Formats: sequence, C-alpha cells, structure tokens
Amino acid sequence: MNATPPWTVTWTEELSVGIPEIDDEHKRFVILLNNLNAAIRERASAMALEALMQDVFADVREHFRHEEQLFAQYGYEGHDRHARQHEQIIRKFEEMSDTFRGNISESERIQIGLDIKNILVSHLINEDMKYRDMQRASPTAGEEQE
Ligand SMILES: [Fe+2]
Ligand SMILES: [Fe+2]
Repeated sequence: MNATPPWTVTWTEELSVGIPEIDDEHKRFVILLNNLNAAIRERASAMALEALMQDVFADVREHFRHEEQLFAQYGYEGHDRHARQHEQIIRKFEEMSDTFRGNISESERIQIGLDIKNILVSHLINEDMKYRDMQRASPTAGEEQE
C-alpha cells in the first residue's frame, strides 16, 4: 500500500468483520473520522470542529450499543470484555472532548484528531475482529443459514 497520510483511514476488505450491517457502520465512522481530521487540518472554526467531533462520538456510541446488542443476541463469549472496552473508549472520548474545547494549540488539536482515529481503528482491528465468527459459532443460532 502506498503512503496515505496518517490522519486518513481507507476502508479495505481487510477491515470487514463479515457482518454487512456492522461493516456499513464502520465505513460510516471512517468517513466521519476523515471529515473531522480534514477539518482540523484545514483549521475550521472551533464550532465546526466541535460539531464534527460530536458527530463521530454520537455515531460511535450508537454503533457500540448495536454491537453489544448483537453480542447478546448471539451469546458471544467476549461480550463483557468487549463492552468494558467500549466503556473505556467513551470515557476517553469525553475527556478528549473537554480538552478539545479548552484553549489548546493547533498541534494539540491535530494530535487529538489522530488519537481519536487511532483508538477507533485499533479497536476495530484488535477487538472487533475477534467477533468475526460469532454468528456462525453462536450457541443460540437455532437454524443453519445455509
Ligand atoms: Fe465496531
Ligand atoms: Fe467494538
């Protein structure tokens, strides 16, 4: 892969967790992340940046709830551990959002944008990937899909 700027995420099939509705949500937050990071680099107004950041956070909250609902539905064994990670990420985002609203420098702002991106992408790669096969492995899946 050629060098893409560190603040841009590109969706590839390698990021697929094999559940189309979840992939769609991940694709959407990739777009929102890229929008936020582009706006930070373009020095958009504090108000515009705040709105873009809240778009990311609201979307992520909704997405985490959805994943946890699927974990419950499929009896995923990693449910609790994964849900705790979601909680930690949300808490971290709340802190970052407070910092972002304060009087911070341009480079601190860029750093926060990158951190948000890195936290989400690494969660996707390291944690979300573990539930890839939960639908197939589900003890509660009464009927075979094929
Ligand atoms: Fe996810
Ligand atoms: Fe997750």
